[in-house]
Amino acid sequence: MPTNRERIEQLQQLRAEALLGGGPARIERQHAWGKLTARERLDLLLDAGSFVELDAFVVHRSNEFGLDRQRFLGDGVVTGHGTIDGRLVFVFSQDFTVFGGSLSEAYAEKICKIMDLAMRVGAPVIGLNDSGGARIQEGVASLGGYAEIFLRNVMASGVIPQLSVIMGPCAGGAVYSPAMTDFTIMVEGTSYMFVTGPNVVKSVTHEDVDSERLGGALTHTTVSGVAHLAARDEAESIDLVRRVLSYLPQNNLEDPPLVECRDPVERRDPELDAIVPDDAHKPYDMNDVIRRVVDDGAFLEIQPGWAQNMITGFARLGGRSVGIVAQQPAVLAGALDINASTKAARFVRTCDCFNIPLVTFVDVPGFLPGVGQEHGGIIRHGAKLLYAYCEATVPKLTVITRKAYGGAYDVMSSKHVRGDMNFAWPMAEIAVMGAEGAVNIIFREQIAAAADPALERARLVAEYEAQFNNPYIAAARGYIDDVILPSETRPRLIRALEMLRDKRQTNPAKKHGNIPL
Ligand code: HXC
Repeated sequence: MPTNRERIEQLQQLRAEALLGGGPARIERQHAWGKLTARERLDLLLDAGSFVELDAFVVHRSNEFGLDRQRFLGDGVVTGHGTIDGRLVFVFSQDFTVFGGSLSEAYAEKICKIMDLAMRVGAPVIGLNDSGGARIQEGVASLGGYAEIFLRNVMASGVIPQLSVIMGPCAGGAVYSPAMTDFTIMVEGTSYMFVTGPNVVKSVTHEDVDSERLGGALTHTTVSGVAHLAARDEAESIDLVRRVLSYLPQNNLEDPPLVECRDPVERRDPELDAIVPDDAHKPYDMNDVIRRVVDDGAFLEIQPGWAQNMITGFARLGGRSVGIVAQQPAVLAGALDINASTKAARFVRTCDCFNIPLVTFVDVPGFLPGVGQEHGGIIRHGAKLLYAYCEATVPKLTVITRKAYGGAYDVMSSKHVRGDMNFAWPMAEIAVMGAEGAVNIIFREQIAAAADPALERARLVAEYEAQFNNPYIAAARGYIDDVILPSETRPRLIRALEMLRDKRQTNPAKKHGNIPL
């Protein structure tokens, strides 16, 4: 029998062994690629000294294909809990130095265990992904393991925040776990995500493409919209996780953290009064509007590189987290297209499930016309955004800065879809469509019969603009609660948020709605 002293030494040895993952040579290889190890990443992510590891002694159970000769403590994934800014989080960090971070049955059980714990106590789960996918030697046991994780991703959706960072390969069905989490962050140059890799693509479609172009960070944050944020390196990706989390509550039953606000609540920004050009066709930068209104000009844009005609992101007003949804008039005139609708719908639902009030800045000429949009299903995709705003029960504040035309007026957090406080700037134009379009339809015969049709059209356009292109018709009906000076937007939004602090609104009981997908 070993002595107690020997037993203690044995534990210390095992712990030291576990820290080495797949061994020094593979760690060196990882570093040579410019990648950190699973544990180094956790050191960066979590508050110093807060990490508590679980299941460090788990090893895989398979003996096939030589696996009986290779067992690594922890089996390729480091799991546990720790804190970020003092708040509890659960983490798993895939270790590429052990079987390429590939997922075995035991490995999946480790991830499921921390997901179950996170659900039990109501805390976020952060997954650091760097894996060759299903452990090939384990076959269906590995596939089953993935499915167990997918199921938990879905059960946890809308209950606790789930964040994924992609820091290496993420291929095949494995992509669907990050895809079902709330936020996916990718590291430029070293990470990629695809369902089938370049070789399969080449053999099936004869397209030549490398991993980076097929599924790198740039592709997924500018072309596909699969990922929310791209980071220049691993340290930046981890910083982004910490920043995103700072706006979120621990779970769906809590409110996001209230932060001390040093930016005066009553601050008025006179520059805002001059931000919208007199010429309604001229663009301006809605990012500028947002930064001038929110606390300290701090705005964390989500999906900044994709569907840029729509802006989504987090900020604070009076120290409270808010989700901002805004048209960007500088891109596609801020028109709602398929991608913009999908992007904003997802963001609205993310905010709604985590009790984050929505602030919507509207300058929308309508839905984007075109065969491509219609055939691509703008009806189905636009409906997602309408649905998301209609079902959202968090405080909803709306500011119409300029155009709010047609169906897009209804969609963008209008009074009719339960906007709580709807403001308009004096230059707002709220109408079924722009003056030119309206006049061409309702006065077609009158224009054709005129001695000088162009002159007559111009006269009618001016008349229509004078009569309808203002916020007062909507305000007269109470569809707009107040017409405000642009410069007073910040204090008005903060007061509205305070007034709505205890807002309670529920939707009819049902199994779930049937959002158009
Ligand atoms: C077991 C694996 C593995 C895997 C890599 N390794 N992937 N072991 N199962 N899926 C091992 C390698 O044998 C090697 O072991 C070590 O990890 C590093 O791999 P390398 O190939 O040397 O690294 P690299 O050249 O960087 O290439 C990385 C890679 C490549 C691109 C990920 O390994 C690869 O293509 N792997 C297979 C990917 C794959 O097809 N996975 C299944 C996808 S389908 P040693 O001992 O040499 O260090 C899937 C389905 C999910 O995942 C289903 C969900 C429903």
